[in-house]
Amino acid sequence: MILPGLVDIHVHLRTPGGEHKEDFRTGSAAALAGGFTMLLAMPNTQPPLVTLESWHSAQTRAQNESLCDVFLYAGASAEKLNELPALANEAPALKIYMDQTYGPLRVRGLENLIRIFASWPASKPICVHAEGESVALALGLAATYNKHLHVCHVARKSEIELIAKAKAGGLPVTCEVTPHHLFLTQADAARLGPYGDMRPTLGTPEDQQALWQHLITTIDCIASDHAPHTRDEKELIDGSPPGVPGLESTLPLMLTAAAQGRITYARLVELLYTNPRRIFNLPEQADTFIEVDPLAKYTFPEHPLYTKCAWSPFSGMPMTGKVQRVVLRGQEVVRDGLVLNFR
Ligand code: DOR
Ligand code: ZN
Ligand code: ZN
Repeated sequence: MILPGLVDIHVHLRTPGGEHKEDFRTGSAAALAGGFTMLLAMPNTQPPLVTLESWHSAQTRAQNESLCDVFLYAGASAEKLNELPALANEAPALKIYMDQTYGPLRVRGLENLIRIFASWPASKPICVHAEGESVALALGLAATYNKHLHVCHVARKSEIELIAKAKAGGLPVTCEVTPHHLFLTQADAARLGPYGDMRPTLGTPEDQQALWQHLITTIDCIASDHAPHTRDEKELIDGSPPGVPGLESTLPLMLTAAAQGRITYARLVELLYTNPRRIFNLPEQADTFIEVDPLAKYTFPEHPLYTKCAWSPFSGMPMTGKVQRVVLRGQEVVRDGLVLNFR
């Protein structure tokens, strides 16, 4: 089966400052192995990408060091508000962390949020890490300032139902879900310990069911939220960081769901290609496609091949559907599931 080169709009590639977890080369190799030829990477790096200077230097490195196309989000910070207009000219979208997660990047207080919403252009999405009541706050700001809001990794029934209502009422809002919230629940979090801990945390079976129901209607994109941390970091008794890798497991999981008849292949292409490109106004990649074997059956390996963290919360899960080949701008970059010229 031939599909377009897929777009993952939510990954953490850890450069600069966290290269022991991942870097542009390993993260983009994991992307290609997972059927993604274009990535949007998050700004919660060290330093965070909240100034034009830090954003620019990271974007230049992304261009030089990645094996696929990588675009970087601009990060919102209350201390660097005057950087936003310049960042808005360059970055495809803004990211606001409204709730506590990995790293120090977080915007608190209505005054700061108002300034950010007021100064970002309506033409580019404002993406939010917003959980629970923060989703309602973000929707209210988007409505008030008439800005395009994109809610990252929606994980709760109440959140997706609120977003569905907002969409029905005509608000300019889009959203994404992750495979871990679609395929895992709190029961898995108990089994996996730190390897099943991320923000937002895993939900109840009711949350999970609501996400699947809204996958056909409300949800615009599937994104991995690939957030690698080393095993040593995950094993820390105090301060184990939240986040799980996902670039190599996202498409196999979704192909498995398609093979089981839970979703159509056409809808997968909308969620992983058409909608991401439309929402973030991303360029076309000429002569680019992926080849998958939709019927290949196997067990997801103990060690994903390319992400530096080398573990996965999906290890041991039965999968149906495998990436065989990737062609990027006319050049074969994955053959028989292996990234060429990587090692
Ligand atoms: O679990 C998470 N990890 N959620 C986030 O929002 C950030 C991410 C990370 O950067 O590790
Ligand atoms: Zn997040
Ligand atoms: Zn994230």
